[in-house]
Parts: sequence; structure tokens; C-alpha cells
Amino acid sequence: EQAEKNGYDHFMLKEIFEQPKALEKTMTGRLNKEAKQVEFEELNWTHEQIKNWNKISIVACGTAYHAGLIGKHVIEELTRIPVEVEVASEFRYRNPIIDEKTLVIVVSQSGETADTLAALRQSQHLGAHVLAITNVVGSSIAREADEVILTMAGPEIAVASTKAYTTQVLSFYLLGIYLSEAKGTLNDEFKEQLVEAITAIPEKIEEILEHTKGIQWYGESIKDADSVFFLGRGADHAVSLEGSLKLKEISYIHSEAYAAGELKHGTLALIEEGTPVVALMTQEAVSEKMLGNIKEVKARGAQVLGIAVEGDMKIWDYVDETCFIPAAFSILTPLLTVIPLQLIAYYTSLALGNDVDKPRNLAKSVTVE
Ligand code: G6P
Repeated sequence: EQAEKNGYDHFMLKEIFEQPKALEKTMTGRLNKEAKQVEFEELNWTHEQIKNWNKISIVACGTAYHAGLIGKHVIEELTRIPVEVEVASEFRYRNPIIDEKTLVIVVSQSGETADTLAALRQSQHLGAHVLAITNVVGSSIAREADEVILTMAGPEIAVASTKAYTTQVLSFYLLGIYLSEAKGTLNDEFKEQLVEAITAIPEKIEEILEHTKGIQWYGESIKDADSVFFLGRGADHAVSLEGSLKLKEISYIHSEAYAAGELKHGTLALIEEGTPVVALMTQEAVSEKMLGNIKEVKARGAQVLGIAVEGDMKIWDYVDETCFIPAAFSILTPLLTVIPLQLIAYYTSLALGNDVDKPRNLAKSVTVE
């Protein structure tokens, strides 16, 4: 096992550091850097077929569900096709409105999650076309879906999913660009810029991974907290749900992620002197609003770690600590902001002496209900 960890103390840390490579592999053959476009040999969809879908329904569990939440932002933004996202255990028992005009996308690292597999079968039964995004070739979900986008994360051992998540998220960017061709929703110039920006993501993750001291310090500093809150708006909120799940899974600290605009509808009552708050502020369109929310929690004594884009200094005066990510389009920041969040969870768990790779009560793959 030590050899498999390749010099890292834990599989989770190893897998966090493998993300730039995993993303590059997932782009290979799909992101044509010369032609600056996306190609999917595995999807033989005609433009007519794509135009026939009036809704996309993303169904998954756990971290894969969180990747789907980013997928909704991305696909709606790039294609204007309405997207709904639901956890598989709810979807399968609620008589979902799905038919031949729906593209269902099931997301699953293992390809074996019982609820997700049941949702796939039910969707096909209702006439929908099912695309799977999975990491395991030959898995039940890969076999039964109509098409498969294989994430190239390689084996993921740690129960807390990291590189599977980022490769799933990347798949949604690629899929969004691919679908936009049929929908005619992106102008060529923006599409080319986006493709180029996606190509640069692995390098930017490397940059984040080269400077983890501050994040390590922060992770250790919250180890005795009763609760940790994650705040963000838009795609930042979707990523913060994943950050909160990571922390919960391996540190056993209660944590919640809130859409920052919802603060005053409940969560604000829980903020006291010293409550740790991780505030993500990378979405340009709502950054002033987010700053307002940061001021609200600061005024109640929260200890705020702000995560912002390099050069965006306005956050500086209002937070206790700052973690800057390399500059990127707002739509792409989820692939970067999740890295410090994964590391916070890792270092908090480590400081508590927990079994980082095998947290209590949890399994890597949930193949029974
Ligand atoms: C379990 C794992 C999670 C994972 C979820 C869904 O809860 O511990 O890390 O996100 O199952 O698994 P899947 O293989 O379908 O992505």
C-alpha cells in the first residue's frame, strides 16, 4: 500500500496532486487545441437530435451530484438548454417528468451506485436518452447507458472523492461547448477563448498546489470548531457544497454550505464570535453582493477565510485570511477553488488524527440502497 501511495502520506493527498494530470488525460482527444474546438468520438449525436432535447436532467449521488450542480451552471450558460439536477435517491421515487425529449446525464465515479443505476433504468424506461459520465469502463452504469463519457481520473482509492470530481466537472465544460455547436449559442471568438482557458487549467492547479502552506495552516486552525460555514453565490455556491461535504466526510466537523444571499433567512443566527466561515468570491457578476455578505458575517464576529481571484484586492480588508486562485473566467473557477477546499478538509482531518482515507461509516461505493 505504501508503494501505491507513491511517497504521499495518504491516497487522498496523492489524488489531489494527481488532478492536473487527470484533467489533461480527460481533455486528450476531446479538446482540439489547434482547431480550438471540442470533439467527442463517443457521442454520435446529430444536431437534429440535440435540438430535439428540450431539457437536460442530471442525476447522481454525493460528490458526483455536486459535479452535476456545476454542470447545470455550465450547460445552461453555454447552451441555454434548461438543466435540472437531482440526487438519484429522490429522483427514482418521485415520478419524474422525463420523456424522449429529455437528455438524462447520470454521473458516477464507480459506475455502480445503486440509486444512480436505478435512475438510469427508470429514465430509459420513460423514453429518455441516457448519457453516463463515469470513471470505470465496463461498470454497470457504463454498460447500460446509451453513451458514455469516460473520465480519465484513474483509480480513486480515498473515500473522499477529489480527482473524480474535477474530471466530472471538466466533462461538463467539454459537453457544454460540444452541445453549443448544435444550438448555435456561442460565438466563435468566445468559444476559442474558452477552449484555450480550459487548456490552461491544469497548470493553474499546479500553481495552487505549489503553495499549500497557508491552506494547511487554515485547515489546522479550524480543527476544534463546532461548525464551519461555506458561503458563495452562483457557481461558487455549488463548489462550496462540495467543500463542505469534503470537510464533513473526513473531519467529522459539522459544516454547511449556504447560498450567501440566503444568509439572512437563517444561517446568520448561527454566526458567533470566532465561527469559521469560508467565503468564495470568484464570480465577477455577483462579487459586490458577495462582499456585502462577507461584511454581514464579519460584523457578527466570524473568522473569515476569503477565496478570491488573484488581483481582486477588494476582499482583503474584510477577511481574516485570504487564499488567491490564479485568474480565470468566472465560469471556470470551480476547477480551481475546489482545490483549496479539498486541502482544507485534508489538513483538518490530519490535524485531528482521523483516518483520512477511510472515514468512519462511509464507503467508497454504495452498491446497495
Ligand atoms: C459514496 C462515496 C462518494 C461518492 C458517492 C457517489 O458516498 O463515498 O465519494 O461521491 O458514493 O459515488 P459514485 O461512484 O456514484 O460517484
